[in-house]
Amino acid sequence: MSKKIFSGVQPTGNLHLGNYLGAIKNFVELQNDKENQCIYCVVDLHSITVKQDAKILKRNIRETTATFIASGLNPENSIIFNQSTVSAHAEVAWILGCVSRMGWLSRMTQFKEKAGKDKEKASVGLYVYPVLMAADILLYDATHVPVGEDQKQHLELCRDIAQKFNNDFNAPNFLKVPEPLIQKQFSRIMSLKDGLKKMSKSDPSDLSRINLTDDKDLIINKIKKSKTDTLPMPGINDDLKKRPEVQNLLGIYSNLSNQSIDKVKDEFQGKNFSIFKDKLSELLVDKIDPIGKRIKDLLKDENYLDKILAKGSQKANNLATKKINEIKTLVGF
Ligand code: AMP
Ligand code: TRP
Repeated sequence: MSKKIFSGVQPTGNLHLGNYLGAIKNFVELQNDKENQCIYCVVDLHSITVKQDAKILKRNIRETTATFIASGLNPENSIIFNQSTVSAHAEVAWILGCVSRMGWLSRMTQFKEKAGKDKEKASVGLYVYPVLMAADILLYDATHVPVGEDQKQHLELCRDIAQKFNNDFNAPNFLKVPEPLIQKQFSRIMSLKDGLKKMSKSDPSDLSRINLTDDKDLIINKIKKSKTDTLPMPGINDDLKKRPEVQNLLGIYSNLSNQSIDKVKDEFQGKNFSIFKDKLSELLVDKIDPIGKRIKDLLKDENYLDKILAKGSQKANNLATKKINEIKTLVGF
């Protein structure tokens, strides 16, 4: 069955292995199935929900675009654009915001985490962030949305918003209720320093993550310094629940090598940790280093990246204009 795919990544710099394994690698696989129509968006409007420096933001928009291309997205096969160039996103977010309920948004765990203790000081944008995300998806009648596990709750909200809009405006099935596409195994890549914390761009320690632009030496060094424990490498029957760091490293290996976790456990059972870490570094260098090099190369040609975005934006605008006109008619404008 052909799918309409939409997903977004924030241009906030430091794209890392979690972004790649949790999202971007999936984007590429979906694009390579010719039946699918794929739209991948650099969500710059979302990124300003926390303060950004204008010059750095501009660079990060290009860097995220370069990361898409370097990872294997092809602008001839997928629509690649940045959100702020299609004004329908912000307009539809307003309309959907009037359908969404305060109670729904108050339950969003990402807001609670990002706002921290002092909620009064969080931006209003950060609070309504998931409504803009719903607008992104619903505007293109997306049927499937590939995201990491952390975005599951936002997608459930998007489904609720679509259903409420259809109900309120007596338009059954008008907004398409999308399905999340979340990898079943190891969809959450954890910090290299703490197996209970998500690998994140905002972690102050650079040793906690593998950035996609890290070179060979950095990757090797970070894996060498990654946290493990004093027990031997586990076997197939060993439970890893109490060993989150080991589970995470094995998961990364399994994901990158496209092998089951049992196969990986079997391969390294009883061996020295340093042997496993050497193999893991090798695999990471093999897969990530070429992407990083390509990103750096692409960033030298800003014109080329800007052209990709401009072309994508034109295509996205054509699709979005049709849908927003229908939405406006239903609302009574
Ligand atoms: P963001 O950088 O927050 O815009 O996230 C972009 C995509 O990467 C989203 O689909 C996230 O769910 C995914 N992602 C971010 N961090 C991780 C992680 N540590 N593990 C797996 N997926 C992640
Ligand atoms: N909120 C997503 C994240 O932080 C990014 C995003 C914005 C997105 N709009 C989207 C993802 C639409 C999927 C579909 O990761």
